[in-house]
Amino acid sequence: MSIQQRYEARFARSARLAAEARNTFPGGVTHDGRAALPFPLFIERASGASKWDADGNRLIDYVCGHGALLLGHGHPAVVAAVQAQMERGTHYGGEHALALRWASLIQRLVPGAERVRFTASGTEATMLALRLARAATGRPKILRLEGHFHGWHDGIAPGADPDDPNAGLPPELLGQILVLPADLDRIAGSLRRRDDVAAVILEPTGAAYGAAPLPEGFLPALRALTAELGVLLICDEVVTGFRVSPGGAQARAGVVADLTCLAKILAGGLPGGAVAGREDLLRRLAIGPDGTPRERVRHQGTYNANPLAAAAGVAALELVASGVPGAEAAARGQELVAALNDVIRARAARGITAYGDGSIVHLFADPAAPLEPGQAPHGLPLAAVKRGGDPRTLAALRMALQLGGVDLMRGRSAFVSAAHGPADVEATAAALDDALALLASEGMI
Ligand SMILES: Cc1ncc(COP(=O)(O)O)c(C=O)c1O
Repeated sequence: MSIQQRYEARFARSARLAAEARNTFPGGVTHDGRAALPFPLFIERASGASKWDADGNRLIDYVCGHGALLLGHGHPAVVAAVQAQMERGTHYGGEHALALRWASLIQRLVPGAERVRFTASGTEATMLALRLARAATGRPKILRLEGHFHGWHDGIAPGADPDDPNAGLPPELLGQILVLPADLDRIAGSLRRRDDVAAVILEPTGAAYGAAPLPEGFLPALRALTAELGVLLICDEVVTGFRVSPGGAQARAGVVADLTCLAKILAGGLPGGAVAGREDLLRRLAIGPDGTPRERVRHQGTYNANPLAAAAGVAALELVASGVPGAEAAARGQELVAALNDVIRARAARGITAYGDGSIVHLFADPAAPLEPGQAPHGLPLAAVKRGGDPRTLAALRMALQLGGVDLMRGRSAFVSAAHGPADVEATAAALDDALALLASEGMI
């Protein structure tokens, strides 16, 4: 049986649900990133580091809520907080003290979080940060880095990937976004020539949560450059926030951005986001006693600081603040990198490598790529690096790993949580060994 035939047989109920979903959801999915060939798996429940699919198969989960679940699924403290809040009301349509506690945790952990405004998602957080930056500087343009992802809204969609479609985006908006590679000389050259750039926005460890890592020292150097030129720096810590360190990538690098975008771990697995940063910038959101001056930035949102999200967020951040869950997940992540590369070496699988930063681990697979196990794929086309290699090899590898009980984010990355244990690392390495054997049997590696 081929890998695909095994997949179709093992995940038969997911296949039926996917067929049904294609009549309801465009492309059969609810999120671009959940699409998979020949069909995605349907999940029924999750606990700790595991989830179970519609056919009853257990999978070690490395998607972990698209990176939101640093504590794993259903951490008892988070579940208890949400259940208790459920009884007390899910929406007050008014201010509440829990939001204040939530924001004070952000202020304690995230550098430069003088003020905080909650949003309902990471996409909304970057929307708001860009609006604040333009309002504060009076300049129209935003400089973004090639391949870095900041949500799906019109204001930032262009340039997320070099070959991304732009359908539905107004052409005049495309002209407001400058896209450059992560090359400090080119960024400096552009910023020095122009006087119309409000802000530079980036993922502070590199595109796709570090799948394409930034050069060493890039973040502090970009901070120094933007400060020198009076251009705002927006750190999109939607993934890295509270994970890379309790204070995110900025705290680790000793950098303070002007504005920081947060989501995912922030809300403990429930929907939520925030912009945190300089008081003089966020002050523009405030409605003063004199009404609404024209330079004020408007911002509403039914689910801003939602009490359920606040309860989950407070419970999660109180645990994360100690640094212990993040350190445990990071240690396990690096054990995973080592174990996967041991398997790749033992199988002499050319062009396959595992690499990563703490609890964020990536696989790259392209038999034609000159890569040693453990080496990050530098110097290869960005789109291929973000995709994780050769599409045919990757699709087979993803299916083979799922057959072995391992589910990776987009089939090529692992968000390791504090709930993952040494047995999960061992089982994942064994699943990769079996998967590579299957790929070899099909002549793919
Ligand atoms: C770096 C980054 N910024 C922004 C977003 C958008 O966040 P959300 O999906 O909550 O809208 C994401 C989502 O994955 C992200 O990875």
